[in-house]
Amino acid sequence: MPTAEVCAAAARIVHDVTAKGRSLEAATTSHLPKGDVHRGSETREIAWGAVRWWFRYDRLLSSRLHRPIRRRDRILQSLIICGLYQLDHLREPDYAITSGTVDAASLLGASKAKGLVNAVLRARLRDGEVLPQDEETDLATPGWLIKLIRDTWPYDWREILSAFNDKPPMTLRINPLKRSRDDYLRVLQNRGIKASACNVSPWGVTLETPVNVDELFGFEDGTVSVQDAAAQATPLVCAPRDGARVLDACAAPGGKTTHLLEYFRQLGSLVALDLPDRCGTINDNLSRLGLSAKVIAADLFDVDSWWDGIPFDLILLDAPCSGTGVIRRHPDIRHHRRPADIAHYAAQQKQMLRQLWQILAPKGEMVYVTCSILMQENDEPIRDLCVKSDDVQLHHYSLPGAIRTDYGMQFLPDSNQDGLYYASLRKV
Ligand SMILES: C[S@@+](CC[C@H](N)C(=O)[O-])C[C@H]1O[C@@H](n2cnc3c(N)ncnc32)[C@H](O)[C@@H]1O
Repeated sequence: MPTAEVCAAAARIVHDVTAKGRSLEAATTSHLPKGDVHRGSETREIAWGAVRWWFRYDRLLSSRLHRPIRRRDRILQSLIICGLYQLDHLREPDYAITSGTVDAASLLGASKAKGLVNAVLRARLRDGEVLPQDEETDLATPGWLIKLIRDTWPYDWREILSAFNDKPPMTLRINPLKRSRDDYLRVLQNRGIKASACNVSPWGVTLETPVNVDELFGFEDGTVSVQDAAAQATPLVCAPRDGARVLDACAAPGGKTTHLLEYFRQLGSLVALDLPDRCGTINDNLSRLGLSAKVIAADLFDVDSWWDGIPFDLILLDAPCSGTGVIRRHPDIRHHRRPADIAHYAAQQKQMLRQLWQILAPKGEMVYVTCSILMQENDEPIRDLCVKSDDVQLHHYSLPGAIRTDYGMQFLPDSNQDGLYYASLRKV
């Protein structure tokens, strides 16, 4: 049963995300109650759910108020939205949710607002969900993003947007150097853990119920990694020759770097590059899996500082992007992205492609990946490179579960996988 302490901690997390622009992960780390696993998971469930459904419950709240909550009292908005989320999504008695949320107002230094919190939650219980009838409320997504996704995916936009509100599955990647997937599935079955093989990835296993990685069999010793099924498609797109020099240009935290090393055993070398403050996570993953790569902490645009002058045979560019394909995994993206960000990412992606193309060897391959579902960030940067360089050839391939676009393959977010885009190019 969520106590006042749990409700207050959840409200602090939501407030940090929605009013202060912090990432949900960082805010959760700051405010999650320490030392009590159950309270921690309750807080996380409420905070993440409230951030995910914010745009719906904020509408409901506004329709209940005579005047908007003052700026300095905005934590109350987060607290009430946490309460409204719980009434719809938690299997707890209404009275317990209401009293936990009302008492949390005192812990947040807003005792005087207890009446307001109580009144909004009781009105919701009394009148049911009286919501404005519009798509933003229905889909809990800002209007500009709905429009962008509808324009890009005129037949699939509703399913995509409703997938944003689902909780993502926990998908594992089985390390073929340690165990086969069938073998690992048998281990899970013997332990009474329900799981199934992914269709999208030959290494993928989806757990019916997520578990903490500390409790995951084979995580510590590198038998498994946690990675979305669509993100596991990278080796299906790459075809490095034996002895190839490989560059993973945006490598942190190393999900794709380690997958390439697990699968392609005959690589000559692999350089994993990322910005200095991000490289620790690559090293952690390499050492957990017992793999090695040359990790370079640098800005990829600053080529003279890190490149030895020998061209690469395979370059993987998993570019920074809007993250519109992974919103259900990172629900704070809907709060933090602005319309102008898309053009900014697209410009950066084009520059990165152009920069890296220059250090790709003749006959070399470039694999471009994003976790976006917007063509401005997917086909468009590839088209731009094709137009500006006369030595680019598109390489055609297919991926199970993905849709063919003009220049690549697109996974859409659904119950199986995140929304990732892949394009493969050859230098002729
Ligand atoms: C989508 S993430 C990469 C995820 C990673 N490939 C994986 O599968 O685990 C994009 C990465 O690009 C990095 N990045 C952004 N700008 C960069 C730059 N100018 N030089 C190098 N890395 C950069 C970010 O730090 C971030 O880690």
